[in-house]
Amino acid sequence: MVELEMVNGIKIPQIGMGTWQINDKDILQELIKAGQELGYSLIDTAAAYSNEMAIGKAWTQLGIKREDLFLSDKVWNSNRGFEAVQSACRKSLKKLKTDYLDLYLIHWPASPKLYDDWEILNAETWRGMEQLYQEGLVRSIGVCNFKPHHLEALSKTAQVMPMVNQVEFHPGMPQQELITYCRERGIGVEASSPLGNGTVLANAQLKELAKVKKKTVAQICLRYGVEKGLVVLPKTTSPSRLQENLAVYDWELSVEEMRMIDAIPYCGGIGIDPDEVTEFG
Ligand code: A2P
Repeated sequence: MVELEMVNGIKIPQIGMGTWQINDKDILQELIKAGQELGYSLIDTAAAYSNEMAIGKAWTQLGIKREDLFLSDKVWNSNRGFEAVQSACRKSLKKLKTDYLDLYLIHWPASPKLYDDWEILNAETWRGMEQLYQEGLVRSIGVCNFKPHHLEALSKTAQVMPMVNQVEFHPGMPQQELITYCRERGIGVEASSPLGNGTVLANAQLKELAKVKKKTVAQICLRYGVEKGLVVLPKTTSPSRLQENLAVYDWELSVEEMRMIDAIPYCGGIGIDPDEVTEFG
């Protein structure tokens, strides 16, 4: 598995297993088993996915060595703040049956729409993340869905800047400005929903390109993220697709093909603007 290096020197696999909406414990166990055999080590979960316990059971029952996994988890919005994030992390560690996480992320920024004191809330949650990092409960820390203004605000008080920002990225949502912003500051970018939650796979331009390249549309989407230097986190409930989704390294997209994909207009996905969400508080 190709690995990228975060700013703190910790290596992160470039392709990971997304687990949002996958809650069935038998399916998770089957996927983690197949994933290990294929070379996946990064499992991306979140407290809000309600599958931490099933993942904890799966990897321990399968007898996988902890050091062969890269466990990434996210704190939910109800646990913002210095103390709350630390106790949420400890609970997640228990559910995942581990005494450390490889990466711990803030799931959503507190947004100005919902909180007058959004800057303070994010700063305090981040201070708790830094504390967890200092104590060694988490090997790396980061955020999700942070836009440049959330990161700017955080930089006023942060001792350590996020090592990673996980955001929705796929054809039709190329996040060019955000990626440039993060790259200039040493913040790695992770692509969540790299297939637009499946909707992007129906795009006619991508289908045409896939035909020319003799690849699947999913592979075109994943190669697009890989070629941008991102960590990509596709989700699938099928072991054979786990394999298909890894086969994106022995071929490439040309500069023109990358440009063509960059120019595809929005064609589906999750499409939540972190500043517009109110229902996520
Ligand atoms: P399935 O679980 O049936 O494989 P995203 O990663 O952007 O959130 O997209 C997830 C969706 O994409 C799921 O519906 C998943 O369905 C589908 N998917 C994942 N990998 C592939 C693939 N290689 N080919 C087709 N669909 C895929």
